[in-house]
Amino acid sequence: MSNAQVVPRRYPIPAEPRVPGRAVKLGPVSVEHPDGAASTLVSKVGLSEICLSYRAQSGERLLALDHINLQVRAGEFVCIVGPSGCGKSTLLHLIAGLQAQTSGQVLVDGHPVQGPGTDRILIFQEHGLFPWLTVAENVEFGMKMKGVPRADRRERTSHYLRLVHLAKFEKSYIHQLSGGMKQRVAIARALATEPDVLLMDEPFAALDAQTRDLLHDELERIWRDTGRTIIFVTHNVREAVRLGDRVVLLTFRPGRVKSEFPVQLPRPRSLEDPEVALAAREVLDELREEINRSLEAEYNEGVKPHIKPGGQA
Ligand SMILES: Nc1ncnc2c1ncn2[C@@H]1O[C@H](COP(=O)(O)OP(=O)(O)OP(=O)(O)O)[C@@H](O)[C@H]1O
Ligand SMILES: [Mg+2]
Repeated sequence: MSNAQVVPRRYPIPAEPRVPGRAVKLGPVSVEHPDGAASTLVSKVGLSEICLSYRAQSGERLLALDHINLQVRAGEFVCIVGPSGCGKSTLLHLIAGLQAQTSGQVLVDGHPVQGPGTDRILIFQEHGLFPWLTVAENVEFGMKMKGVPRADRRERTSHYLRLVHLAKFEKSYIHQLSGGMKQRVAIARALATEPDVLLMDEPFAALDAQTRDLLHDELERIWRDTGRTIIFVTHNVREAVRLGDRVVLLTFRPGRVKSEFPVQLPRPRSLEDPEVALAAREVLDELREEINRSLEAEYNEGVKPHIKPGGQA
């Protein structure tokens, strides 16, 4: 069955054009709202021509991100997949303002990102909770940093702990919680600061399957109820299709946008849905090519940096 729900948009990759004639132009795309109304994309987050290079220990420049163009509309749930080392975390760090690109522009609401801001928050796999604080105090912490008045903090803490079903655990300490509960505290803490954009870097990778399924449901519900924009990095293609309005696939080093897969399957979805599995297979087929490239590079050459002629990255 050809999967009409997931029609990839492919982008030309200058060095190695994959399928001549199938590539489409870079640039803003029109995205369907969950309610079905088509709208022209208004970018919440816009990445244009982003390049980022690191200086390797040898002194050579390692090109990590190469002319990334990506437009994310307000309220969109975008998932990013790609082989290990392709620059997914780096991309989130740029949007979070924790790192600066070598060239190109990162825009949030049309304004260049010049550092971290309370409108964006990054959630890591290691959720960075404080063991000496209770659940409620952890959730309050981010708001305190943001200068939210005490009374508001209390109210928001209760609200967001209820949202992640942890109201009964507000007085518990972090070591008294399971992995999934800790992740929910991290989500509540992030949401309580009421950022417009949630950047999530493999937040569920370390969880067991049941907890992960539960958190998928909760994250989807919270996303739907709060209208936040989410950019979610994962290695798990099914998870990406389960959650995303769109899955963006990056190439092996240097990271470029190889394809985008708008996912138009109805919500709520489940990892077990045959349509999700089918759509995931399409993404996986393309991802495998990149993983094979990464394995070949590591096997044949060691991890060889991508150097442009003249050592310029
Ligand atoms: N501080 C740094 N200095 C030098 N190189 C770096 C630095 N941070 C990341 N890199 C390199 O940039 C590339 C992209 O790294 P990044 O962590 O963004 O990849 P990733 O896609 O998130 O990988 P993974 O899926 O394994 O988490 C890698 O080759 C990595 O070695
Ligand atoms: Mg990473």
